[in-house]
Amino acid sequence: MQFGQYPAPGHVIAHLSDPHLLADGAKQYGVVDTEVGLALALARIARLDPLPQALVFTGDLADRAEPAAYARLRAFVEPVAAAMGAQVVWVMGNHDERATYAAQLFDETLADGDDATQDRVHDVDGLRIVSLDTSVPGYHHGEISDAQLAWLAEVLATPAPHGTLLALHHPPIPIPMMPAAEVIELLEQDRLAAVLEGTDVRCILGGHFHYSTYSTFAGIPVSVASATCYTSDPAPLERFVSGVDGHQAMTMVHLYDDRIVHTIVPVDEAAEVSGFPSDVRAQVEALSVEERRELLSRKDSPIYTGEIQVPGII
Ligand SMILES: [Fe+2]
Ligand SMILES: [Fe+2]
Repeated sequence: MQFGQYPAPGHVIAHLSDPHLLADGAKQYGVVDTEVGLALALARIARLDPLPQALVFTGDLADRAEPAAYARLRAFVEPVAAAMGAQVVWVMGNHDERATYAAQLFDETLADGDDATQDRVHDVDGLRIVSLDTSVPGYHHGEISDAQLAWLAEVLATPAPHGTLLALHHPPIPIPMMPAAEVIELLEQDRLAAVLEGTDVRCILGGHFHYSTYSTFAGIPVSVASATCYTSDPAPLERFVSGVDGHQAMTMVHLYDDRIVHTIVPVDEAAEVSGFPSDVRAQVEALSVEERRELLSRKDSPIYTGEIQVPGII
């Protein structure tokens, strides 16, 4: 049941980024336990209602592209996704290596010397999600080849029933809060814009920056999810760049017929200072619209004056 004016979302997607898993429980920078951040994020997703239909990971899946790190990633993510009936969409990042990524996540063997970009198309109940590989072997910045652009144009030539999400690692937007990252941005972004204009791409999902940010590209909304490992402090004190062990977050993506809502979800729990238990929802659903407004909107409602104590408020 919806309490407000809008219908339920047609699609729900969990957007996670930059897990940077390491093999053998190694810690990132000797400090950050990347598995903890990922596990916390997955646990918070698993409690949501409605559950997501897909988990999208926008790159930098394995910090050093170790095969065992990808195996750990699958061991963490796939059972959770299966339990909620969600697809998993992997995206290549600059820390990933194509051959290892293909072998470990898709059981595909690339021939020696084959450096095929890892681009894939997923159908999530009529919503198309394109995973586009913006990585450059041996570098941290991003590029998209002519062949990839031609492939993408061909994919997008046929609209999907509910449109397309383009998932890539290097977001095609300015980076005013972390100028250092401009050195490792996606190059020649105009070429991508020319392909996307006039298509059914409804949103671009990205990662790479390790903090949440939003913009548009070729008129298309862009949402960048933070990281589940270390994050970038966008307001550090006298630092060119500053990675910190805190503020980890993911983004929930709710798609409606005519819009998309993005919600940043912190990975860490925080101490509750007010709230109602979840069984109150059924009680609120049982009320009429007017009764709900009187109970929950009226300033001198007994739940706000303290006359009714939680739990069992109604
Ligand atoms: Fe990263
Ligand atoms: Fe990255």
